[in-house]
Amino acid sequence: MAIFRRLDPTRMPEHVAIIMDGNGRWAGKRSMKRFVGHKQGAESVQFVVETASRINLPWLTLYAFSLENSLRRPRLEVSFLMRLLSSYLASNVERMNDNNVRIQYIGRTAELPSEVRDRMEWAAEATCRNTGTTLTLALNYGSRSELVDAVRALAREVEQGLLRPDQVTEHDIERHLYTRDMPDPDLLIRTSGEMRISNYLLWQIAYTEIFVTERLWPDFRGSHLLEAIEAFGARNRRFGGLSESEGGALAGSVLVPR
Ligand code: FPP
Repeated sequence: MAIFRRLDPTRMPEHVAIIMDGNGRWAGKRSMKRFVGHKQGAESVQFVVETASRINLPWLTLYAFSLENSLRRPRLEVSFLMRLLSSYLASNVERMNDNNVRIQYIGRTAELPSEVRDRMEWAAEATCRNTGTTLTLALNYGSRSELVDAVRALAREVEQGLLRPDQVTEHDIERHLYTRDMPDPDLLIRTSGEMRISNYLLWQIAYTEIFVTERLWPDFRGSHLLEAIEAFGARNRRFGGLSESEGGALAGSVLVPR
């Protein structure tokens, strides 16, 4: 792929997060049922995971199922998505192993149906020794509920006398997020052109570069991931500091007023 050769190895993201959107519209445009769009979307997942592995991307996090999805979609669609996830895992664990991909999950996964949880645990266990890309599926995930869970855990620490309220730092919050062992995303991709974050990784994307494409998720392929990464490579990340041309070595550093 020509675009692969254009990627600058010194400007690669460590963590890419994706909001996969547009399955329903993809199906609607073809006068098909939404289910068909979701099925095609699961194919895109595998293309993107394998491309991520090929370019040695350490972290890929996909928004597969939000808390709002489970509350606001018809029961039939929710149960179809659950079955699709189960069958995706069953059919792709071997390919994940071939590609050295480890799978894990974030979200209120304890609330998912037990047969889905069993399949998820099986897939995580079967891939846990892989050392390439970590694929994180956000399932029954909502960023606000993640923060609620973190605040509850911190409140318990305060109650037990392990922490004083005025001692709480950003690090304390981070160590209670589902993503505690992961770096923050460098790049967030959203498909289908919507300019929304949809309750995804709100804390973690404070300094993340955002890339929105009009392409619907079922049409998204590895080459589109590479296009987004190429665009990321051309961005000037400032982290609230100065760019290299403005402040040289100060870029990205925290300025402490004297
Ligand atoms: C949004 O499309 C997409 C989802 C509900 C989540 C993504 C789900 C998949 C890609 C299915 C398979 C996932 C895995 C991990 C196997 P939408 O229905 O909101 O689209 P619309 O906005 O066009 O209606």
